[in-house]
Amino acid sequence: MLVLGIETSCDETSAAVVENKFKVRSQVILSQIEHSQYGGVVPEIASRLHSKNIHRVVKESLTKGNVTLKDIEGIAVTYGPGLVGSLVVGLMYAKGLAQTLNIPFIGINHLEGHMFSVFLTYPELKPPLLYLLVSGGHTEIIYMEDFLKYRVIGQTVDDAIGECFDKVAKMMGLPYPGGPVIDRLAKEGDENFYNFPVPGHGKHNFSFSGLKTAVLYYLRKQDKHFIETHKSDILASFQKAAISALCDRLKKAIRLTGAEKVAIVGGVSNNSYLRKRCSKELGVLVYFPQRIYTTDNAAMIAAAGAMRLEKGEKSPLSLPANPSLYIEEE
Ligand code: KG4
Ligand code: ZN
Repeated sequence: MLVLGIETSCDETSAAVVENKFKVRSQVILSQIEHSQYGGVVPEIASRLHSKNIHRVVKESLTKGNVTLKDIEGIAVTYGPGLVGSLVVGLMYAKGLAQTLNIPFIGINHLEGHMFSVFLTYPELKPPLLYLLVSGGHTEIIYMEDFLKYRVIGQTVDDAIGECFDKVAKMMGLPYPGGPVIDRLAKEGDENFYNFPVPGHGKHNFSFSGLKTAVLYYLRKQDKHFIETHKSDILASFQKAAISALCDRLKKAIRLTGAEKVAIVGGVSNNSYLRKRCSKELGVLVYFPQRIYTTDNAAMIAAAGAMRLEKGEKSPLSLPANPSLYIEEE
């Protein structure tokens, strides 16, 4: 079965074609670099750029995959969570195309998409699987008992970890998105330079706003020269605290669920320090998607969509965008 996936929930316009669920025939990702000058995503600009580029991106993904519209048997599209204006662009485009071609379309939860990203790299991997989903908008630990059957173990009660990386980078005068820059600079720093508090909330939840404030107060007490000379040390110390919180909560979730396999997905799963620590410390098999599938992409949406379509599901054309969609437990 050939499924076309479309993703426009934030600042990436992406389209992909997958075959038999997890084999990626093609993928095109257009990242909106226009936001970098504003230090964050500007929703209005994001939706306008999605509208401008979506048709070209979809066409390019079909050409790259060596398929025509006639070959496509279903369309999967992100309908939430995300920026409502951006979601609407992809959703409307997908609905129009599905109706014209008279094929089913399915709305996919972006978070479920991220969870499916690991199957693009490891098609043989099967649940039960414990997930750490870490991105610019989310920090969640979810247990996938079976395909499409989820139990939410923990989540952030305030900021997402990616947002925290981006804000700390901004405080230090670094460009957006800050995560990859911190990752790179922290490699040259001493992670034990300063002891920032390892954040958390209760036994299984996360909280990152306190860590963000701790970094802010710390920086306010230092002079410019000190910050400049110890930039890498401060960033390495911040990164250690933030990633330690993830490792700590994951270990507790492993004990709670008895999981033998962990998948770490989402933009922040690119972090090299996180990859190193989790692979070493968790004591179970740890899977990371290939880097092209960690940040927002349409192949993961197509994979989740293909799974649902194969089970006979489809969405009504009246399906609205839902900016605050969450993972539903069964
Ligand atoms: O999954 P994603 O592309 O978009 C959302 O759904 O949010 O994640 C983007 C987030 C940004 O906050 C970015 O700074 C972070 O992922 N990120 C990283 C790294 N690469 C991307 N954070 C830490 N280390 C990285 N190497
Ligand atoms: Zn995402």
